[in-house]
Parts: sequence; C-alpha cells; structure tokens
Amino acid sequence: MRKVTLSEILDHPIAQKYLKRSGMAHAVSVAYHAYRLSLQEGVDSDRAAKAALLHDIGHYEWYTDGEWDYEEYKKNDIHAIKGAERAHKLLIRLGEDRAAAKEIALAILLHTDSYLPDGQLTKNSLQMVVKRADELDEEPGGAHHYRTISLEKARQKIQELDRLIEKGERPLKRTV
Ligand SMILES: [Fe+2]
Repeated sequence: MRKVTLSEILDHPIAQKYLKRSGMAHAVSVAYHAYRLSLQEGVDSDRAAKAALLHDIGHYEWYTDGEWDYEEYKKNDIHAIKGAERAHKLLIRLGEDRAAAKEIALAILLHTDSYLPDGQLTKNSLQMVVKRADELDEEPGGAHHYRTISLEKARQKIQELDRLIEKGERPLKRTV
C-alpha cells in the first residue's frame, strides 16, 4: 500500500513552486519515462516515478542582468543536492515511508554527475532508471525546462500515472 501518491506530491505548494521553476512538463514526462524503465529494469515503480517527478526541484535561477547565466550555473550549481534534501523533507511531511523517502532522495542526489568530482561511483538500478529517464527527456540548451503544460493537464497525467502504478500496468502510448 502506497503511503503517498504522486498526485498528493504534485498538489503540495512546495512541489508546485519548484516544479514550476524547473519545468512541470519535463517533470511529468520524466516520471513517465522512469515508470516505463522501472518495469523493464524490475525496480520499484512508485519510487522511480516519485524520484523522477521531483528530480529537478533543487534548481536555483542563475540569472545575471536578467539573462540565464549558463557559466555561473555550470560552476556553482548543486541542484541535485538541494533537490534531494527538499524532496526528502516534502515526502516525510506528506507521510512517506522513511526507507522510501531515503531511496528517492538518493536517486535525486545521483540523477546527474555534473556536480560530482571525477571518479567512479556505482549507481544502483533505481538511481540509473531516474538518470536515464531524465536523459530521455533532455533537449539541447536546456529547452526541456521551458516546455509548458497546464496545471490541469499535469494533474490528469499524474493521476493516470498513479493508477498505472497501483495496477502495475504499462502505459499504452507515449502520453507526454
Ligand atoms: Fe531534468
């Protein structure tokens, strides 16, 4: 039995604030990719979809004189660290199982290695699923962060994903 649904997460004001900042359409789309990959890889679909939905909520707006400053972003960004922490706090607040909240937070922490020092890190399959799901939705120049979706549509998609997770069903077609 799931303690928290994706829809409850989506509707929380903290999630709303940060999902809007980093791109609601991207978050919903990555959640679907993660769900599909989780079935292929045999990892927990609920945790994969939650980590994917929340993977970018740690983004900060790197603007200089009103312009997106990619250099500043590349040098100083820690969105995966911030996102892991925010997601963990939000999930616990919503009543998520503690072990699940930790695993979801770790998958968010490791969904990108752009901020990690060079070296070797072995990711588990849940962490790989979330990373690959994100990469499947990436567009050149970070355009995936600016694709739009209405809140109503996002809510419908996430409710549908909740139903699929509960039934363990595969989505019939690409829906986002
Ligand atoms: Fe992303």
